[in-house]
Order: sequence, then C-alpha cells, then structure tokens
Amino acid sequence: MAKDIILTGDRPTGKLHIGHYIGSLKNRVEMQNTGKYETFIMIADQQALTDNARDPEKIKNSLIEVALDYLAVGIDPKLSTIFVQSQIPALAELNLYYLNLVTVSRLERNPTVKAEIAQKNFERSIPAGFFTYPVSQAADITAFKANLVPVGDDQEPMLEQTREIVRSFNSIYGKEVLVEPQGVFPPKGSGRLPGLDGNAKMSKSLGNAIYLADDADTLRKKVMSMYTDPNHIHIEDPGQIEGNMVFTYLDIFDPDKQKVAKLKEHYQAGGLGDVKIKRYLNEVLEAQLGPIRKRREEFAKDLPSVYAMLKEGSQKANAVAEQTLAEVRDAIGVNYFG
Ligand code: TRP
Repeated sequence: MAKDIILTGDRPTGKLHIGHYIGSLKNRVEMQNTGKYETFIMIADQQALTDNARDPEKIKNSLIEVALDYLAVGIDPKLSTIFVQSQIPALAELNLYYLNLVTVSRLERNPTVKAEIAQKNFERSIPAGFFTYPVSQAADITAFKANLVPVGDDQEPMLEQTREIVRSFNSIYGKEVLVEPQGVFPPKGSGRLPGLDGNAKMSKSLGNAIYLADDADTLRKKVMSMYTDPNHIHIEDPGQIEGNMVFTYLDIFDPDKQKVAKLKEHYQAGGLGDVKIKRYLNEVLEAQLGPIRKRREEFAKDLPSVYAMLKEGSQKANAVAEQTLAEVRDAIGVNYFG
C-alpha cells in the first residue's frame, strides 16, 4: 500500500513559540519518527508576504529562524522534506486555476480569515492575496497529494476549503486528480497553549509567548511573570487553579500527573506560594526546552548548511509539484501543444 502523505507548514513571520510546538510541531515530529509517512514541511514565505508585502526583510529573516526551529525540535531532513514555498512555481499556477472554483462569498465565510481580518483591522482594505490565501493553501496541500495535514485546530477551515476545491476540481474536470486531505490535530484539551498573560492565544503580537529560541534566563523571567490567581495574595490563602497559567502549563508539559494533582490540591487548600510553583514549572519547561535550545544553537553555527538543506528539499518538492501540475493541466485541457 502507498504511504500516507503529509504536507504541512508555517508562515515565517517570526520565530516559532511553544504554542506552535504544542499545537503542531510535536505531532509532526512524532509522525515523522514512526517512519510511516512521506512528509513534506513547507516554510510558507509567500503566504507570509500576503500581509507583509512591504516588509520582505522580516520574512527573509524569519525563514532561517523557522528552519532552525524545525531542526531544533527534531524535524530531520533525512526523514522529512523541508522546503520553501516561493521556490515551487507550480504552487502559484495551481492557485490560479483553483481561484476560479471559489466564490468571494465563500472566502468571506472562512472563519480563520474572518478572525484574522478583524484582528488586523483590515476591513475592506485587505490585500487580495491575503483574502485568497486559503486557496493558495489548497494548492500547497494538493500539489503533494497529501491526505494528512498536521496543524493547529485553527486551520480546520483551511482543510474544509481545500476539500471543497478538490471535490469541485475532480467533478468539473472529470478526473480524480486531486486528493481530499484530513487535518491531524493535537489531542483534545491539550492542543492550544494560552499566552503567559492568560490570553487564549499565544502570539508574537500580544507579547505573551515563550520562544523555542529563548535562553534559560529569558525563559525563567517569563515563567516568573505568568498570570496566576490575582486573589492569591498571601501564601496561606487558598488559590484558584482555573485560569491559572502555571497549572494550565503544568497540565500540558509535566509528565508527572500525580505530582501536578498534589500541587493543585495544596494550592487550592492554601499554603503553596506562586514563586514555588513557578520555580517548579520553570524546571519542567527547562527539561524539555533546554535540549531543543541546545540543538538550535548547534545548527545556528552553520547557516550555509541549513540553506543547502532547504535548497535540496525545495528541489525534491519541486519535482513532485511539477508532476501534479502536469496532471492538472491535462485535466483542464490547457496542454495544447502536447
Ligand atoms: N496557514 C499556515 C500558518 O498559518 C501555513 C500554511 C501554508 C500551511 N500552507 C499550508 C499549513 C499548508 C498546512 C498546509 O502558519
């Protein structure tokens, strides 16, 4: 039986944070390590440009940071093909054909794009490329005939939109050229890491993120600044664990569930101080992030090798995408000269 094919990726608009790690990177590394899948991981620089056209330097600088983040968490170029979106011209051509299969009103209803438009205060002055990026994302996925897409749960609407495009394409052009993808999401309840401040979303723009590249001192300072229970003033006071970021993070990161249960009990009863639980969380995080940071520093010593890896991955990805594009052109009939 043919292997399942994974296509996934991230926009390079900064370094990746531990929300990305929990939301999707961890899943990708685990799937990669099973050896069961053919994996393609894309750095979506063109998608990043859809709302950063005037700041290409930011995207260029972030590209290498994201590549380092991938290598640091254990994405292994021998097992996964890491590549750069802009180096695969077939993706743009696929996007062009797919745009004709999607209506403006359907794009307006895409909940992820809707939320981003609101968050960025675009209103009607939204760049057309940004507005249509779900279609370009369908091109990314279908170019590799990927059936699995490990992403954060905010990306589900992109997958729905991709499936619709696949169904329209195959039915209009009368051939099963494209493959419908499924999302692969983190286990329920552990997939979304809130920010340090308790905001539901960890993000660069909110300034509430811990980055994979943060050094030990920065990590510790961030943990010490975390939102806990504002009414837990004296150590002896009973404390709240709901909405308390230290316990939310412990639930997600600490493998010692019994210990976390005991700490929660103690905290709720009173007599356990915030500084103590924060120091403990810092140890738990350092145990997991320390090795990632170290690998990142190692890879960062030889950036030319990282670029060479991306180039090689892009060449491999390009050959696959060109093959799909040829089938798409055939199906539509825009192959006039044989
Ligand atoms: N939209 C993704 C993000 O916000 C990046 C991305 C682009 C992607 N193309 C993709 C993810 C295809 C999965 C599949 O980071």
